[in-house]
Amino acid sequence: MGPDLRKRWPAYQFPPLGSSSAKSPPGRAEPSGILLLSLPVFSGRFLLLLPATPQPHCRPPRTPEKNRGGVNLSILPVDMEHALWSSGASDKNKSMVEQLQRYGIIRSSKVAEVMEAVDRGLFVPPGGSPYFDSPMPIGYNATISAPHMHAACLELLEKNLQPGMRALDVGSGTGYLTACFALMVGSEGRAVGVEHIPELVATSIENIKRSAAAPQLNDGSLSIHIADGREGWPELAPYDAIHVGAAAPQIPEALIEQLKPGGRMVIPVGTMFQELKVVDKKLDGTVSIRDETSVRYVPLTSKEAQLHAN
Ligand SMILES: C[S@@+](CC[C@H](N)C(=O)[O-])C[C@H]1O[C@@H](n2cnc3c(N)ncnc32)[C@H](O)[C@@H]1O
Repeated sequence: MGPDLRKRWPAYQFPPLGSSSAKSPPGRAEPSGILLLSLPVFSGRFLLLLPATPQPHCRPPRTPEKNRGGVNLSILPVDMEHALWSSGASDKNKSMVEQLQRYGIIRSSKVAEVMEAVDRGLFVPPGGSPYFDSPMPIGYNATISAPHMHAACLELLEKNLQPGMRALDVGSGTGYLTACFALMVGSEGRAVGVEHIPELVATSIENIKRSAAAPQLNDGSLSIHIADGREGWPELAPYDAIHVGAAAPQIPEALIEQLKPGGRMVIPVGTMFQELKVVDKKLDGTVSIRDETSVRYVPLTSKEAQLHAN
């Protein structure tokens, strides 16, 4: 069982994108010094959380509450980046992981170990804030997901990311999560990323080469491919774990087919309102689907639609 994100996450969700204001829901005031900006350059899909003044202390978890249509944007203390300002990159990454543990998002020691080993700072483009709990733009109308989303998806998939297992990461973007999958399944397993923007694939391979997962690029247990992820990657199917990093209007049939009996897929589904769905294929081949939490991701779409979205 993964973490009960309904109980843990919705407290950190933000108002529906495209809403005229970015005010907190009633009774959930934002800490002072926080500025919420919408970024029209990203089709109004993202909100940016900026610490205007340093926050002197950690923000406690808020009251759990479901905020349909909200954005899972930030769960960590807003001053984390500031607090870590003077530390080295690996210290900052470690502190980020510790915060995610403290907030109950990371519960597995294996997930913590892997997120500590793969420095997020190597995957966020220059000028970004890699240890800030927010999605960051990576170009091509895409983002690297927020650390808490990565952590939560790793937690949900952990049992299907055991050594020797096969994992597919659809919409692999920066390669961060594919690298984490590779460390989880090890050299005897397979971690496969599929991304349809060739430039992102090239950058992700460079990112991974500098990371703890580099040896697995060399031994072939980690690979990234340029392809339409809606078709999965049939060459290496079936997969024990499938992660989809972009929101599909419906669950693509090809991905269900490529899931191994006993396998699990985590996929955001929807357009305006999206749910993170957990799809389990039982050993007899039947499939069960449940909603984990409301989320907001960029769409799983065609390359043309993505590049011309605005
Ligand atoms: C929110 S980003 C997440 C990236 C990755 N999980 C990360 O954190 O770096 C979603 C990614 O899905 C990719 N994408 C969208 N539609 C796709 C498709 N049909 N096939 C492959 N990749 C797709 C986008 O280009 C983008 O890189």
